Amino acid sequence: MCKWPVALVTGGGSGLGKAIVERFLAEGAKVAILDRSEERVQEVVAMFGGKVVGTSGDVRSMADNKAAVARCVEAFGKIDTLVGNAGVWDYNASIAGTSEEKLAEAIDELVGINLKGYILAAKAALPELYKTKGNAIFTVSNAGFYPGGGGVLYTASKHGVVGMIKQLAHEWAPHIRVNGVAPGGIGGISRGFPSLSQEGIRFSNLPLDDLMKQMLPLEKAFYASEYTGGYVFFANRKDNGPATGSVLNFDGGIGMRGFMSPNMGKELDEKFRGA
Ligand SMILES: NC(=O)c1ccc[n+]([C@@H]2O[C@H](COP(=O)([O-])OP(=O)(O)OC[C@H]3O[C@@H](n4cnc5c(N)ncnc54)[C@H](O)[C@@H]3O)[C@@H](O)[C@H]2O)c1
Repeated sequence: MCKWPVALVTGGGSGLGKAIVERFLAEGAKVAILDRSEERVQEVVAMFGGKVVGTSGDVRSMADNKAAVARCVEAFGKIDTLVGNAGVWDYNASIAGTSEEKLAEAIDELVGINLKGYILAAKAALPELYKTKGNAIFTVSNAGFYPGGGGVLYTASKHGVVGMIKQLAHEWAPHIRVNGVAPGGIGGISRGFPSLSQEGIRFSNLPLDDLMKQMLPLEKAFYASEYTGGYVFFANRKDNGPATGSVLNFDGGIGMRGFMSPNMGKELDEKFRGA
């Protein structure tokens, strides 16, 4: 049973954030969300009734982050866990392929959401997390460790998130634990961003199952709900007391490919199948 009954999740209106909301509720938590889409906020609140409250706002705004914290405390009395999760992907936009005119604006937008948004959420939630001796969990990505999971903008932003997690864990000890979950590709979600005219693009248009099968040692695509256990682990004081400043690589083994061919299950299949 959970010992972390109230959580605030940014980007809780869709994709991974919404899956985290569903999982936390199933574990007995009450959840507040902050999402820039008023429509998605309403949808999630309606879906889960009185167990979820929502604030529509932009994670790049200190005032909106503070409003989300205030709404959570007003409804549920406290915050035990902050999940910084709202983020956008750059669809592997390269520096060479991005025009000079768009590049500066694109950096401001993507880094503004993916990194500044996390820092502002952390700042806004800090007084409440201090009171509960709570914890913060931030969504990283395989792009927080390896190249090729995004373009320079996304990869730099997620490497920045790893540094932010370590620094916050350092600054907030011994009161508040700070950790991260680094998913690999997630089936069916993630939207591009306006600075690079990517609004209409959807990750679901990519042949994700085939790509993941070829790329990952675990040879399958993983979907949002399959990543939520990492957040439950870090949120739960009982199971993760010693963990702070750590990031769980939860990515199908992207870093474990080495020089082997994708079909590395063959040897074990030949040796043990039917044994
Ligand atoms: N989809 C993937 O393959 C993948 C892989 C690794 C990590 N991630 C990370 O997971 C997190 C969630 O991504 P997702 O794939 O669920 O995306 P998504 O687009 O499905 O959901 C992101 C949510 O964040 C909200 N949001 C975006 N910008 C915002 C802003 N400025 N202010 C407030 N809310 C905002 C959106 O409205 C949306 O509801 C991100 O941090 C992303 O980098 C995604």
